[in-house]
Amino acid sequence: MKKYNIAVIPGDGTGPEVVREGIKALKAAAGRFSFSVELNEYDFGGERYLETGETLPDSAVEELKGYDAIYLGAIGHPGVAPGILEKQILLRLRFELDQYINLRPVKLYPGVSTPIKDKGPGEIDFTVIRENTQDLYSGTGGFTHKGTPDEVAVQTAVYTRKGVDRALRYAFEYAGKRRSPRPWKGLSEAERESGLKGQLTLVGKTNVLTYIYDLWERGFKEIGEKEFPEIKRDYNHVDACCMWMVKNPEWYDVIVTGNMFGDIITDLGAMIQGGMGIAAGGNINPEGVSMFEPIGGSAPKYTGKNLINPLAAIASAQLMLDELGEREAASAVEDAVCWAVAEKLESLGAGRMGYGTSEVGDMVAERISG
Ligand code: IPM
Ligand code: MN
Repeated sequence: MKKYNIAVIPGDGTGPEVVREGIKALKAAAGRFSFSVELNEYDFGGERYLETGETLPDSAVEELKGYDAIYLGAIGHPGVAPGILEKQILLRLRFELDQYINLRPVKLYPGVSTPIKDKGPGEIDFTVIRENTQDLYSGTGGFTHKGTPDEVAVQTAVYTRKGVDRALRYAFEYAGKRRSPRPWKGLSEAERESGLKGQLTLVGKTNVLTYIYDLWERGFKEIGEKEFPEIKRDYNHVDACCMWMVKNPEWYDVIVTGNMFGDIITDLGAMIQGGMGIAAGGNINPEGVSMFEPIGGSAPKYTGKNLINPLAAIASAQLMLDELGEREAASAVEDAVCWAVAEKLESLGAGRMGYGTSEVGDMVAERISG
Protein backbone atom coordinates (compact mmCIF):
# COMPACT_ATOMS: atom_id res chain seq x y z
CA MET A 1 0.00 0.00 0.00
CA LYS A 2 1.31 3.38 -0.92
CA LYS A 3 2.10 5.63 2.01
CA TYR A 4 2.47 9.39 2.03
CA ASN A 5 4.34 11.26 4.72
CA ILE A 6 2.66 14.57 5.29
CA ALA A 7 3.96 17.39 7.49
CA VAL A 8 1.12 19.28 9.11
CA ILE A 9 1.52 22.89 10.25
CA PRO A 10 -1.84 23.87 11.75
CA GLY A 11 -0.51 27.38 12.47
CA ASP A 12 -2.45 30.28 13.89
CA GLY A 13 -6.02 31.31 14.60
CA THR A 14 -8.55 29.05 12.95
CA GLY A 15 -5.78 27.16 11.13
CA PRO A 16 -5.82 24.19 13.53
CA GLU A 17 -9.62 23.90 13.35
CA VAL A 18 -9.79 23.77 9.59
CA VAL A 19 -6.75 21.52 9.24
CA ARG A 20 -8.37 19.03 11.61
CA GLU A 21 -11.33 18.75 9.22
CA GLY A 22 -9.06 18.55 6.19
CA ILE A 23 -7.28 15.61 7.81
CA LYS A 24 -10.61 13.83 8.25
CA ALA A 25 -11.13 14.18 4.51
CA LEU A 26 -7.60 12.97 3.75
CA LYS A 27 -8.04 9.93 5.95
CA ALA A 28 -11.42 9.13 4.46
CA ALA A 29 -9.93 9.35 0.97
CA ALA A 30 -7.01 7.15 2.00
CA GLY A 31 -9.38 4.55 3.40
CA ARG A 32 -11.47 4.43 0.28
CA PHE A 33 -8.69 4.51 -2.29
CA SER A 34 -6.26 2.21 -0.50
CA PHE A 35 -3.31 4.36 0.39
CA SER A 36 -2.21 5.60 3.77
CA VAL A 37 -1.12 8.94 5.17
CA GLU A 38 1.30 9.39 8.00
CA LEU A 39 0.99 12.79 9.58
CA ASN A 40 3.59 14.63 11.56
CA GLU A 41 2.61 17.87 13.25
CA TYR A 42 4.76 21.00 13.69
CA ASP A 43 3.79 23.87 15.98
CA PHE A 44 5.21 26.78 13.98
CA GLY A 45 3.22 29.97 14.27
CA GLY A 46 2.42 32.93 16.48
CA GLU A 47 2.04 31.11 19.80
CA ARG A 48 5.39 29.40 19.54
CA TYR A 49 7.04 32.63 18.46
CA LEU A 50 5.57 34.54 21.43
CA GLU A 51 6.74 31.84 23.84
CA THR A 52 10.18 31.08 22.46
CA GLY A 53 11.09 33.87 20.05
CA GLU A 54 11.57 31.23 17.39
CA THR A 55 9.70 31.19 14.10
CA LEU A 56 11.18 28.41 11.99
CA PRO A 57 14.40 26.64 13.01
CA ASP A 58 16.84 25.91 10.16
CA SER A 59 16.70 22.22 10.98
CA ALA A 60 12.94 22.22 10.36
CA VAL A 61 13.34 23.55 6.85
CA GLU A 62 15.68 20.68 6.08
CA GLU A 63 13.37 18.18 7.72
CA LEU A 64 10.38 19.42 5.76
CA LYS A 65 12.22 18.71 2.52
CA GLY A 66 11.92 15.02 3.37
CA TYR A 67 8.11 14.88 3.24
CA ASP A 68 5.80 14.05 0.37
CA ALA A 69 3.78 17.20 1.04
CA ILE A 70 3.05 19.87 3.64
CA TYR A 71 -0.41 20.78 4.85
CA LEU A 72 -0.66 24.27 6.31
CA GLY A 73 -3.56 25.90 8.17
CA ALA A 74 -2.80 29.61 8.43
CA ILE A 75 -0.02 31.94 9.47
CA GLY A 76 -0.77 35.30 11.13
CA HIS A 77 -1.31 36.28 14.76
CA PRO A 78 -2.85 39.49 16.13
CA GLY A 79 -0.21 39.61 18.88
CA VAL A 80 2.70 39.63 16.45
CA ALA A 81 3.64 42.60 14.24
CA PRO A 82 2.66 42.06 10.60
CA GLY A 83 5.42 40.66 8.42
CA ILE A 84 7.35 38.65 11.00
CA LEU A 85 5.51 35.34 10.83
CA GLU A 86 4.57 35.79 7.20
CA LYS A 87 8.16 36.37 6.11
CA GLN A 88 9.89 34.01 8.49
CA ILE A 89 7.52 31.08 8.14
CA LEU A 90 5.25 31.19 5.11
CA LEU A 91 7.45 33.05 2.64
CA ARG A 92 10.61 31.37 3.88
CA LEU A 93 9.11 27.96 3.25
CA ARG A 94 7.89 28.98 -0.20
CA PHE A 95 11.37 30.27 -1.06
CA GLU A 96 13.55 27.62 0.53
CA LEU A 97 11.46 24.73 -0.75
CA ASP A 98 11.45 26.55 -4.09
CA GLN A 99 7.68 26.33 -4.44
CA TYR A 100 7.71 28.52 -7.47
CA ILE A 101 4.08 28.08 -8.42
CA ASN A 102 1.07 29.22 -6.45
CA LEU A 103 -1.89 27.39 -7.90
CA ARG A 104 -5.30 28.92 -7.21
CA PRO A 105 -8.39 27.50 -8.84
CA VAL A 106 -11.33 29.89 -9.09
CA LYS A 107 -14.32 27.66 -9.49
CA LEU A 108 -17.89 28.45 -8.53
CA TYR A 109 -19.68 25.28 -7.48
CA PRO A 110 -23.39 24.79 -8.18
CA GLY A 111 -25.49 26.13 -5.33
CA VAL A 112 -22.88 28.63 -4.16
CA SER A 113 -23.82 32.26 -4.48
CA THR A 114 -21.49 34.71 -6.12
CA PRO A 115 -21.72 38.48 -5.77
CA ILE A 116 -21.63 38.74 -9.57
CA LYS A 117 -25.13 39.08 -10.91
CA ASP A 118 -26.08 36.77 -13.78
CA LYS A 119 -22.96 34.61 -13.57
CA GLY A 120 -22.91 31.02 -12.47
CA PRO A 121 -20.73 27.88 -12.48
CA GLY A 122 -20.74 27.96 -16.28
CA GLU A 123 -18.99 31.31 -16.26
CA ILE A 124 -16.75 31.20 -13.20
CA ASP A 125 -14.24 28.40 -13.67
CA PHE A 126 -10.61 29.23 -14.28
CA THR A 127 -7.24 28.78 -12.62
CA VAL A 128 -4.71 31.41 -11.65
CA ILE A 129 -1.06 30.40 -11.75
CA ARG A 130 0.86 32.87 -9.68
CA GLU A 131 4.65 32.95 -9.70
CA ASN A 132 5.54 32.38 -6.07
CA THR A 133 9.18 33.20 -5.31
CA GLN A 134 10.12 36.49 -6.97
CA ASP A 135 8.75 39.98 -7.66
CA LEU A 136 8.25 42.46 -4.80
CA TYR A 137 8.34 39.43 -2.51
CA SER A 138 12.09 39.03 -3.06
CA GLY A 139 12.73 41.28 -0.06
CA THR A 140 15.07 43.55 -2.00
CA GLY A 141 15.03 47.10 -0.70
CA GLY A 142 15.51 49.18 2.38
CA PHE A 143 15.33 52.56 4.06
CA THR A 144 17.63 55.50 4.27
CA HIS A 145 17.17 58.35 6.77
CA LYS A 146 14.55 56.25 8.49
CA GLY A 147 12.38 58.23 10.87
CA THR A 148 13.43 61.60 9.49
CA PRO A 149 11.55 63.89 7.09
CA ASP A 150 14.05 62.85 4.40
CA GLU A 151 13.22 59.19 4.71
CA VAL A 152 13.37 57.08 1.56
CA ALA A 153 11.90 53.59 1.27
CA VAL A 154 12.65 51.35 -1.69
CA GLN A 155 11.30 47.90 -2.46
CA THR A 156 12.21 46.36 -5.76
CA ALA A 157 10.45 43.78 -7.89
CA VAL A 158 13.05 41.25 -9.00
CA TYR A 159 12.57 38.74 -11.80
CA THR A 160 15.02 36.40 -13.44
CA ARG A 161 14.60 34.94 -16.89
CA LYS A 162 14.82 31.43 -15.46
CA GLY A 163 12.26 32.22 -12.79
CA VAL A 164 9.82 33.62 -15.32
CA ASP A 165 10.36 30.85 -17.86
CA ARG A 166 9.74 28.01 -15.44
CA ALA A 167 6.49 29.59 -14.26
CA LEU A 168 5.42 30.13 -17.87
CA ARG A 169 6.21 26.54 -18.85
CA TYR A 170 4.23 25.21 -15.92
CA ALA A 171 1.29 27.42 -16.93
CA PHE A 172 1.38 26.39 -20.58
CA GLU A 173 1.49 22.73 -19.59
CA TYR A 174 -1.34 23.25 -17.16
CA ALA A 175 -3.42 24.97 -19.84
CA GLY A 176 -2.84 22.00 -22.12
CA LYS A 177 -3.93 19.49 -19.47
CA ARG A 178 -6.82 21.36 -17.95
CA ARG A 179 -10.12 19.89 -18.88
CA SER A 180 -12.85 21.72 -17.07
CA PRO A 181 -16.39 20.37 -17.36
CA ARG A 182 -16.74 23.04 -20.03
CA PRO A 183 -13.59 22.47 -22.02
CA TRP A 184 -12.08 24.75 -24.62
CA LYS A 185 -12.93 27.89 -22.73
CA GLY A 186 -12.02 31.10 -24.46
CA LEU A 187 -11.74 29.40 -27.84
CA SER A 188 -14.05 29.98 -30.76
CA GLU A 189 -15.29 27.06 -32.81
CA ALA A 190 -12.88 27.93 -35.61
CA GLU A 191 -9.98 28.04 -33.17
CA ARG A 192 -10.93 24.64 -31.78
CA GLU A 193 -11.14 23.19 -35.25
CA SER A 194 -7.74 24.60 -36.06
CA GLY A 195 -6.31 22.44 -33.25
CA LEU A 196 -6.02 24.87 -30.34
CA LYS A 197 -6.46 23.08 -27.02
CA GLY A 198 -6.56 25.70 -24.30
CA GLN A 199 -6.10 29.34 -23.51
CA LEU A 200 -3.47 31.01 -21.37
CA THR A 201 -3.76 34.66 -20.44
CA LEU A 202 -0.68 36.51 -19.26
CA VAL A 203 -1.64 39.20 -16.76
CA GLY A 204 0.89 41.99 -16.37
CA LYS A 205 1.42 45.71 -16.68
CA THR A 206 3.53 46.12 -19.78
CA ASN A 207 2.49 49.75 -20.16
CA VAL A 208 4.17 50.82 -16.92
CA LEU A 209 6.38 48.01 -15.59
CA THR A 210 8.31 48.05 -18.83
CA TYR A 211 11.20 45.96 -17.56
CA ILE A 212 9.72 43.10 -15.60
CA TYR A 213 6.64 42.58 -17.71
CA ASP A 214 8.65 43.01 -20.87
CA LEU A 215 10.66 40.02 -19.68
CA TRP A 216 7.45 38.11 -19.02
CA GLU A 217 5.97 39.06 -22.37
CA ARG A 218 9.02 37.96 -24.35
CA GLY A 219 9.18 34.64 -22.54
CA PHE A 220 5.46 34.15 -23.01
CA LYS A 221 5.68 34.65 -26.75
CA GLU A 222 8.87 32.68 -27.30
CA ILE A 223 7.93 29.68 -25.16
CA GLY A 224 4.35 29.73 -26.43
CA GLU A 225 5.31 29.86 -30.09
CA LYS A 226 8.03 27.26 -29.90
CA GLU A 227 6.85 24.77 -27.33
CA PHE A 228 3.09 25.19 -26.97
CA PRO A 229 1.61 26.21 -30.32
CA GLU A 230 -1.64 24.42 -29.38
CA ILE A 231 -2.33 26.92 -26.59
CA LYS A 232 -3.98 30.20 -27.48
CA ARG A 233 -2.17 33.15 -25.93
CA ASP A 234 -3.86 36.26 -24.65
CA TYR A 235 -2.64 39.22 -22.62
CA ASN A 236 -4.39 41.54 -20.12
CA HIS A 237 -3.08 44.40 -18.04
CA VAL A 238 -3.75 43.61 -14.38
CA ASP A 239 -6.18 46.48 -13.87
CA ALA A 240 -8.22 45.39 -16.87
CA CYS A 241 -8.07 41.81 -15.59
CA CYS A 242 -9.78 42.93 -12.36
CA MET A 243 -12.48 44.44 -14.49
CA TRP A 244 -12.96 41.36 -16.68
CA MET A 245 -12.89 38.96 -13.75
CA VAL A 246 -16.03 40.71 -12.56
CA LYS A 247 -17.64 41.55 -15.87
CA ASN A 248 -16.73 38.54 -18.06
CA PRO A 249 -15.10 35.84 -15.94
CA GLU A 250 -16.05 33.28 -18.60
CA TRP A 251 -13.27 34.64 -20.80
CA TYR A 252 -10.63 33.07 -18.59
CA ASP A 253 -9.34 29.53 -18.74
CA VAL A 254 -5.85 29.73 -17.21
CA ILE A 255 -4.16 32.95 -16.08
CA VAL A 256 -0.44 33.24 -15.44
CA THR A 257 0.92 36.24 -13.59
CA GLY A 258 3.58 37.59 -11.26
CA ASN A 259 3.64 37.14 -7.51
CA MET A 260 2.24 40.51 -6.45
CA PHE A 261 -0.50 40.74 -9.04
CA GLY A 262 -1.32 37.09 -8.41
CA ASP A 263 -1.73 37.77 -4.71
CA ILE A 264 -4.21 40.54 -5.43
CA ILE A 265 -6.28 39.01 -8.20
CA THR A 266 -6.68 35.71 -6.34
CA ASP A 267 -8.44 37.44 -3.45
CA LEU A 268 -10.79 38.85 -6.05
CA GLY A 269 -11.06 35.35 -7.50
CA ALA A 270 -11.88 33.94 -4.06
CA MET A 271 -14.76 36.39 -3.70
CA ILE A 272 -16.35 35.55 -7.02
CA GLN A 273 -16.16 31.81 -6.29
CA GLY A 274 -18.07 32.22 -3.05
CA GLY A 275 -15.56 33.65 -0.58
CA MET A 276 -12.62 32.68 1.58
CA GLY A 277 -14.60 29.76 2.97
CA ILE A 278 -13.98 27.79 -0.21
CA ALA A 279 -10.78 29.21 -1.73
CA ALA A 280 -7.86 26.78 -1.78
CA GLY A 281 -4.27 27.10 -2.87
CA GLY A 282 -1.16 25.07 -3.50
CA ASN A 283 2.44 26.23 -3.28
CA ILE A 284 3.95 23.89 -5.80
CA ASN A 285 7.46 22.77 -6.47
CA PRO A 286 6.85 20.40 -9.38
CA GLU A 287 10.22 18.77 -8.73
CA GLY A 288 10.13 18.88 -4.93
CA VAL A 289 7.89 19.26 -1.89
CA SER A 290 4.67 21.23 -2.23
CA MET A 291 2.60 22.91 0.46
CA PHE A 292 -1.17 23.28 0.48
CA GLU A 293 -3.18 25.89 2.34
CA PRO A 294 -6.57 27.55 2.40
CA ILE A 295 -5.94 31.11 1.25
CA GLY A 296 -8.19 32.87 3.77
CA GLY A 297 -5.74 33.44 6.59
CA SER A 298 -6.03 32.84 10.32
CA ALA A 299 -9.38 34.67 10.90
CA PRO A 300 -8.52 35.29 14.58
CA LYS A 301 -11.96 36.49 15.60
CA TYR A 302 -13.44 33.07 14.87
CA THR A 303 -10.73 31.09 16.64
CA GLY A 304 -11.95 28.17 18.73
CA LYS A 305 -15.62 28.86 18.04
CA ASN A 306 -16.36 26.00 15.66
CA LEU A 307 -17.77 28.59 13.24
CA ILE A 308 -15.17 28.78 10.50
CA ASN A 309 -15.79 27.05 7.20
CA PRO A 310 -13.34 24.17 6.72
CA LEU A 311 -14.10 23.64 3.03
CA ALA A 312 -11.17 25.75 1.81
CA ALA A 313 -8.84 23.55 3.84
CA ILE A 314 -10.59 20.43 2.56
CA ALA A 315 -10.29 21.72 -1.00
CA SER A 316 -6.58 22.30 -0.34
CA ALA A 317 -6.29 18.67 0.68
CA GLN A 318 -7.89 17.87 -2.67
CA LEU A 319 -5.17 19.85 -4.44
CA MET A 320 -2.60 17.92 -2.41
CA LEU A 321 -4.04 14.56 -3.44
CA ASP A 322 -4.05 15.66 -7.03
CA GLU A 323 -0.41 16.72 -6.85
CA LEU A 324 0.52 13.43 -5.17
CA GLY A 325 -1.00 11.63 -8.14
CA GLU A 326 -4.09 10.37 -6.27
CA ARG A 327 -6.45 11.69 -8.92
CA GLU A 328 -9.45 9.54 -8.02
CA ALA A 329 -9.17 10.44 -4.38
CA ALA A 330 -8.92 14.11 -5.32
CA SER A 331 -12.10 13.86 -7.41
CA ALA A 332 -13.91 12.13 -4.58
CA VAL A 333 -12.99 14.99 -2.25
CA GLU A 334 -14.17 17.53 -4.80
CA ASP A 335 -17.44 15.65 -5.30
CA ALA A 336 -18.02 15.62 -1.56
CA VAL A 337 -17.33 19.36 -1.30
CA CYS A 338 -19.72 19.96 -4.21
CA TRP A 339 -22.36 17.87 -2.52
CA ALA A 340 -21.96 19.70 0.79
CA VAL A 341 -22.29 23.15 -0.76
CA ALA A 342 -25.18 22.17 -3.02
CA GLU A 343 -27.20 20.05 -0.60
CA LYS A 344 -26.23 20.96 2.93
CA LEU A 345 -24.66 24.29 3.75
CA GLU A 346 -26.88 27.34 4.02
CA SER A 347 -24.01 29.69 3.29
CA LEU A 348 -20.23 29.48 3.04
CA GLY A 349 -19.69 32.28 5.53
CA ALA A 350 -18.27 31.63 9.01
CA GLY A 351 -21.13 31.17 11.47
CA ARG A 352 -23.72 31.02 8.71
CA MET A 353 -23.24 27.51 7.40
CA GLY A 354 -26.11 26.01 9.40
CA TYR A 355 -23.51 23.60 10.86
CA GLY A 356 -20.38 23.85 12.94
CA THR A 357 -16.87 23.48 11.55
CA SER A 358 -16.48 19.91 12.76
CA GLU A 359 -19.93 18.85 11.54
CA VAL A 360 -19.05 20.03 8.05
CA GLY A 361 -15.80 18.08 8.22
CA ASP A 362 -17.66 14.98 9.41
CA MET A 363 -20.28 15.10 6.68
CA VAL A 364 -17.69 15.61 3.96
CA ALA A 365 -15.50 12.78 5.27
CA GLU A 366 -18.48 10.47 5.48
CA ARG A 367 -19.45 11.31 1.94
CA ILE A 368 -15.90 10.63 0.72
CA SER A 369 -15.92 7.25 2.42
CA GLY A 370 -18.98 6.43 0.32
C1 IPM B 1 -1.32 34.72 0.36
C2 IPM B 1 -1.08 35.63 1.52
C3 IPM B 1 0.41 35.80 1.70
C4 IPM B 1 0.97 36.42 0.44
C5 IPM B 1 0.80 36.63 2.94
C6 IPM B 1 0.19 36.08 4.20
C7 IPM B 1 2.29 36.77 3.08
O1 IPM B 1 -1.73 36.84 1.34
O2 IPM B 1 -0.91 33.56 0.43
O3 IPM B 1 -1.94 35.15 -0.61
O4 IPM B 1 1.00 37.65 0.29
O5 IPM B 1 1.39 35.65 -0.43
MN1 MN C 1 -2.93 36.94 -0.44
